[in-house]
Amino acid sequence: MLKDNFGRIHNYLRISLTDNCNFRCTYCMPQEEMEWMPQSRLMSADEIVELAEVFVELGVTKIRLTGGEPLVRKDAGDIIQRLGKLPVELSLTTNGILVPKYIDLLKESGVKSINVSLDTLNPEKFKRLTRRDQFQQVWDSIMLLLEEGFRVKINAVAMLGQIEDELVDFIQLTKKYPLHIRFIEFMPFQGNSWDSKKVLTAGEMLKIAGSKLDFKKLTDKPHSTAKKYKVSGYAGTFAFITTMSEHFCGSCNRLRLTADGKIKNCLFGKDELDLLSRLRNGEEVRSLIHESLAKKHAILGGQFSADYQLTQADKIENRSMIKIGG
Ligand code: GTP
Ligand code: 5AD
Ligand code: SF4
Repeated sequence: MLKDNFGRIHNYLRISLTDNCNFRCTYCMPQEEMEWMPQSRLMSADEIVELAEVFVELGVTKIRLTGGEPLVRKDAGDIIQRLGKLPVELSLTTNGILVPKYIDLLKESGVKSINVSLDTLNPEKFKRLTRRDQFQQVWDSIMLLLEEGFRVKINAVAMLGQIEDELVDFIQLTKKYPLHIRFIEFMPFQGNSWDSKKVLTAGEMLKIAGSKLDFKKLTDKPHSTAKKYKVSGYAGTFAFITTMSEHFCGSCNRLRLTADGKIKNCLFGKDELDLLSRLRNGEEVRSLIHESLAKKHAILGGQFSADYQLTQADKIENRSMIKIGG
């Protein structure tokens, strides 16, 4: 069992398949073009499956594939098919572009739920935020996923000055569609120009939405990252991921594996242990997983208060989001 020093049981593994992406979202990666990890440093499909099997033996029951964009990886289909055979709930966080290509394979592999990143409903704004003119493709993918019976969550990063005027429009989507919209408080990562002045908190969003809509709080699942709400009679729900204003570290059940095979015990922790090198050297990997867990802090989320200065944010030693996988 993967229990840390604070009694938290870790049964959720997030595996990043690649640090590459077909978008260039400003909040996720440095402004300047990045150097992608060379192929040789990435875990191969065989290595991913082998490590995933070890985690499953240790008690992992949920695996989420992330990136970068997980589906840009050439062998993404092979990896999904193979992980789909493990006794886990397998899901994916994607920008949606390549969903049509993989829709049958996702279904056949037993994937039931998919999280799609979409920060705006305005095609022009979409172009500015992602530096790609592909709003319609993402929207079509969301509709396709719904038609094919997937449970679909939309992740919208809530940046002050970007999302206020769209909050209600996003929530109104849940009237007709069984979508689950999650507004995510903007988090600081290396090179993403984070500034406390750009953070729109869940409390502020609730005020804006509450002035226009009547909704009620739902009960959240025990390890959920999201605090859920619903307008009565609507098909879907909306929620807030409150890392900055009200962290949820007390119920953390997550471990991460970066695309280059480093185990990360926390989204905000700079500690990384090199699981892939161990595997490649033919050494056992379980002790390193336990070592990583033993180093996990009680709380690292929500440490960035309003007086957290930009100068400090610039010195963040953690990797950029695109290299962690979210
Ligand atoms: P579900 O499994 O559907 O609940 O999704 P999820 O929230 O675990 O994963 P997703 O990839 O959709 O992430 C949504 C947002 O939650 C992203 O901004 C993540 O960075 C953030 N998030 C996911 N896991 C953690 C975590 O362990 N800690 C913090 N602070 N944020 C997290
Ligand atoms: N703050 C909050 N959420 C972010 N994501 C990427 N960068 C950030 C950030 N700086 C989200 C993506 C994706 C999820 C994995 O993390 O939009 O949906
Ligand atoms: Fe878990 Fe770290 Fe996220 Fe807190 S900040 S919920 S400890 S991953």
